[in-house]
Amino acid sequence: MTATTGLRVADRMRLIGTESAFEVSARARALEAEGRSIIHLQIGEPDFDTPAHVREAAKRALDEGATHYAPFPGIPALREAIASDVTTRKGAPADPSQVFVTVGGKGVMLYAILGLIDPGDEVIVPDPGYPIYESLTGFVGAVAVPIPIRMEHDFRLDVDELASLITPKTRMLILNSPANPTGGVLTRGDITRIAELALEHDLWVLSDEIYGRILYDHAEHVSIAALPGMAERTIILDGFSKTFAMTGWRLGYAVVPHALIPVFSQLVINTISCAPTFVQVGAVEALVGPQDDVEAMLVEFKARRDLVVAGLNEIPGVRCANPVGAFYAFPRISGTGLDGAVLADRLLREAGVCVLAGTAFGGVGTDHIRISYANSRENLTEALGRIGRFVEGLDRG
Ligand SMILES: Cc1ncc(COP(=O)(O)O)c(C=O)c1O
Repeated sequence: MTATTGLRVADRMRLIGTESAFEVSARARALEAEGRSIIHLQIGEPDFDTPAHVREAAKRALDEGATHYAPFPGIPALREAIASDVTTRKGAPADPSQVFVTVGGKGVMLYAILGLIDPGDEVIVPDPGYPIYESLTGFVGAVAVPIPIRMEHDFRLDVDELASLITPKTRMLILNSPANPTGGVLTRGDITRIAELALEHDLWVLSDEIYGRILYDHAEHVSIAALPGMAERTIILDGFSKTFAMTGWRLGYAVVPHALIPVFSQLVINTISCAPTFVQVGAVEALVGPQDDVEAMLVEFKARRDLVVAGLNEIPGVRCANPVGAFYAFPRISGTGLDGAVLADRLLREAGVCVLAGTAFGGVGTDHIRISYANSRENLTEALGRIGRFVEGLDRG
């Protein structure tokens, strides 16, 4: 690989992938700059403001001098609040010493994969799934083995199929429930059987629980770390971006087994030194302060989900299951005669609706698009109208 100057960049840059949402957003913004009207349904972030009491706490912290380095694993008040929240809400007893505050939940992915995976190891990743799992796995020279997640199976992985993918080289299993991009949620029965496999084959589990509180229809969030024997082999990834509408604050956390405290310590010290100090003070308030804004956000998300699922299912050739978590719909669109990549591209250019192709999340999503309903009901209604008119106007020959 050669940079434009002729100077070489590292060979390993050939191994890294990307998250196409960022590139697609740039394309959409370029069209807007030309005067086009675009409705953004590609973005994986709540459109709500961060709760006012959280903003106030961070502002106060700035004025009171929380502008210096923090301890590398996080400020004690936040590690305590996280440990207590994880213990009560997830049912996975956690000690503050096991908590590492990171820059975004994404940081936890980096540390877990850098710290635990060697070249040639296999890591089982959901397909469709968050693209960074596969990207970072490849970056360290390991092999990402996709476990298919299908609409016919309520967007839950099939545990028998998972068992068939485990080999002597499998080192880690990455779970994401509730899931991006499908909104699928693993059941307690699924998680119990997955835990049995992890114990039998001695696997690490990276459990991405970033959407753990964004649930509908009485769906239950089960953290695999809460199951017997699993706390010693599970890294919990969670954070503030989604639950508290804090994407721009860049704050996530890991809860790691005691044995991994030295590994995470070294990786945090070598990369970020610590997460921003005043941001951490705001996050304490997010966890221990009033939760009304989170509740209100969930009520609104549910109304939007109902609107989007009903609207999509009225469009000929589109079939959308009812997601019970996160804020994404992942309709199958093959009945339109197009695949997801072509439909996403044409919706952006011809209908002014920006969505992501299912293939942005792996090969299994070829016939799907991902719609983020983190947008107003008014915009969602307008977008559904635009998608419907575009699809009806397609010449299916
Ligand atoms: C499944 C999943 N995990 C982790 C993240 C990263 O979140 P952040 O780095 O903002 O905490 C995202 C963001 O879209 C996600 O969808």
